[in-house]
Amino acid sequence: MTQSRSSAGAEMHPSPPAASPAGPPVRPKERFLVFGAPRIEDAEIEEVAASLRSGWLGSGPKVARLERDFAAYKGAPHAVAVHSCTAALHLSILAAGIRPGDEVITTALTFCATVNAILHAGATPVVVDVDPRTMNLDPAAAEAAITPRTRAILPVHFAGRPCDMDALCALAERRGLALVEDCAHAIETEHRGRKAGTFGDFGCFSFYVTKNMTTGEGGMVLARREEDAARIKVLALHGMSKDAWKRFGDEGFKHYSVVACGFKYNMMDLQAALGIHQLGRVEAWWQRRRELWARYDEAFADLPLERPAAPEPDTRHAFHLYTLLVDEARAGVSRDRFLERMTREGIGVGVHYLSVPEHPYYQETFGWRPEATPNAMRIGRQTVSIPLSAALSDADAADVITAVRRAMN
Ligand SMILES: Cc1ncc(COP(=O)(O)O)c(C=O)c1O
Repeated sequence: MTQSRSSAGAEMHPSPPAASPAGPPVRPKERFLVFGAPRIEDAEIEEVAASLRSGWLGSGPKVARLERDFAAYKGAPHAVAVHSCTAALHLSILAAGIRPGDEVITTALTFCATVNAILHAGATPVVVDVDPRTMNLDPAAAEAAITPRTRAILPVHFAGRPCDMDALCALAERRGLALVEDCAHAIETEHRGRKAGTFGDFGCFSFYVTKNMTTGEGGMVLARREEDAARIKVLALHGMSKDAWKRFGDEGFKHYSVVACGFKYNMMDLQAALGIHQLGRVEAWWQRRRELWARYDEAFADLPLERPAAPEPDTRHAFHLYTLLVDEARAGVSRDRFLERMTREGIGVGVHYLSVPEHPYYQETFGWRPEATPNAMRIGRQTVSIPLSAALSDADAADVITAVRRAMN
């Protein structure tokens, strides 16, 4: 079983994988390489145990520390920890003042949460196509989609590759639009020396279990303005006045006021206990994924597969996903057959992502069609993500490479 929601394994192979015609699998069932497996070390385990022993499990001082540490890592003025990136996106859109009837432009190549967050805020998502090379929101397509009702642009730094922030910031500025960055893949990402999540009004991060650092479930919002960060903090905890989480502390009960109809989106100290130590290793793990990326690039150079484009000059790619495009006409194997063969070889794989308009809900509700965003449609139908976690050993990476080569035959 894989814990990646977007991994193909569990959904597409309900029955146990059959033995490979090429002989025994690269990895037997008991050593199945889970896609996006987190790397958890002793310090995290001890910190979680300390939280449990302290009796303070909910939002508290460890959350406050993770917020401070993350803001310092990003060089951002304000950080608010929440329960997920989905919550971060939802609250950012609300704090940006976006209202029902307003339109928010985003990419067709993203996880459903990006679009759902816009819908949760009551706004109307407008999905546009991506650049076929970078897989990121195409600024020209975004500009062409602007209407008098457009209020915001919500780019996703896909796979950890920064969007063209020069073009997107200029567009937002010129047209008076809010900019909310979906940085779920982009903790270490930079564009011309500036860190992802600090370009826009809000930057939203995910600490889901497969992400570059994890708190199990978790997320963070970076806000440019103090009043926006304060608004998000209030909305994340039922709409109770700031610092309401301290009400059960040792300074005696504190009354709070409910000042908005908020949500239950707060992060727990138990989660932050993991995050504090994960953040401390985020750069070392980035280096490890960079090595794995280079190794894959070299190993697959002779295969009839499209590898990820090299990072653009003067940028820093977060190396969150390594995606191969399997074009059946060229590769001699369909994408879904390739996924099946990788699973049979004992390697967990993912699909990031079928383009948003492929899903029935959006087709039935909005009449969206995949053909309207052809680059995202093609990528979504050809893409396969292979394991790229810092938890991978050299031997694991060698198994992934062998499995990919075998899946091509
Ligand atoms: C691009 C993108 N945006 C948003 C999310 C939502 O993140 P979370 O699971 O933390 O809500 C994800 C998670 O996979 C994602 O990949």
